[in-house]
Amino acid sequence: MGNKNRSNFGSRVGIILASAGSAVGLGNIWRFPFEAGNHGGATFIIVYIICILLLGLPVMIAEFIIGRSALANTARAFQKLAPRTAWKWVGRIAVLTGCLILGYYAVVAGWTLEYTMQAVLNNFDGKQSEHFIQSFNTFSTNSWRPIIWLFVFLLGTHFIIVKGVEKGIERASKILMPALFILLVALVICSVSLPGSEKGVEFLLKPNLSKVNGNLILAAMGQAFFSLSLGMGCLCTYASYFGAKTNLTQTALSVGVIDTFVAILAGLMIFPAAFAVGIQPDAGPSLIFITLPNVFQQAFGSYPIIAYISSLLFYVLLALAALTSTISLHEVVTAYLHEEFNFSRGKAAKVVTFVCLTIGLFSSLSLGALKNITLGGLNLFEGLDFLTAKIMLPLVGMFTAIFVGWYLDKKISWSQLTNNNSIKAPLFKVVLFLLKFVAPLGIALIFIHELGLLNI
Ligand code: TRP
Repeated sequence: MGNKNRSNFGSRVGIILASAGSAVGLGNIWRFPFEAGNHGGATFIIVYIICILLLGLPVMIAEFIIGRSALANTARAFQKLAPRTAWKWVGRIAVLTGCLILGYYAVVAGWTLEYTMQAVLNNFDGKQSEHFIQSFNTFSTNSWRPIIWLFVFLLGTHFIIVKGVEKGIERASKILMPALFILLVALVICSVSLPGSEKGVEFLLKPNLSKVNGNLILAAMGQAFFSLSLGMGCLCTYASYFGAKTNLTQTALSVGVIDTFVAILAGLMIFPAAFAVGIQPDAGPSLIFITLPNVFQQAFGSYPIIAYISSLLFYVLLALAALTSTISLHEVVTAYLHEEFNFSRGKAAKVVTFVCLTIGLFSSLSLGALKNITLGGLNLFEGLDFLTAKIMLPLVGMFTAIFVGWYLDKKISWSQLTNNNSIKAPLFKVVLFLLKFVAPLGIALIFIHELGLLNI
């Protein structure tokens, strides 16, 4: 594909919101709260923010540099910037990671559709927390319903990808992101005003640093990469659609701030409510699907119409936030097959949808009918999450940092961050230092510790 044919995002705000649209998704609202809940709340959040600053943002800038200087899909980008070397494998593994993530991410995205439908049918009305726990368990372990929704969700993603997405993603993100934000703030207010919610606020804001351990750090790092859409060439691909004038450092900072803010708001929405109704914060992947419908009922019990509208709005927005993320995951793999194997875009998209549907089918069944098939105590759904978020994303992130920090000509990075010397890049040295030393060493140390070779 010639560079002249590459589509571009139209405006500065559009670029930020489209990248933020990829970043903000189920990772913030579904995954962040249960990871934080599993690892002690406030302590996790502090380590998470450190990971965003020291590892996430520099790697995001590195992906932007690679994408915008190569103007190609991720695998091709590494190949272009480092011809005839093994670096192309980093790009290829990134693409594979995208496929695996989409395989289980789309399952959860499908759940949001089921909950949207339940909201439309007003099925939450007057129900108690036991009901929500039970109905989530019955639904997620069912062999058919989640798979039908998985299919519908992937088909929707497929449809948008085939149509071409730049204008679509950009336009949709401009409306959806602010709407999601306003709704989240409203829900936080409801959640903290429930009786008994103080314990949840305390859980989120009062750190206990003695709880920091290797597992927590690995989880926080994995979450940082997952939430910022790093480590699989997503933002690298998006950066290849940026304009020559886009300020890469500023864009990365804006995306990082928006993403972290949304995650913390999601925490503030869920934990006070979870504590108020007596649900354990470490309930795992089911957390938001159980607590939230409950919040709507408890908070607006006497105004059923408000309960109805807010639960409907919430699940619609959650589904749409998931959609902007599944589109970005799908786009990476589709662009790869399209450009590298000369598939038409339509055929490439079909292959991706089919493969992800198959992975999704098994990961959905692994929560119910196939739950006895496990590896190391994890079923397929948990295994894919573990393998991608805790291992593959940080590893690809580490190599991306090494690539820009050590391999790539500094002149390229400088001209990318200064737009050919036309803007200032006061953070250049800091970013390069983090990419050269802090990110690779930090990630390597965490892994070595996890493998049990180092005891700290
Ligand atoms: N960041 C998205 C979320 O938080 C998920 C996602 C989209 C993603 N693209 C990605 C995760 C690339 C890792 C890599 O929901």
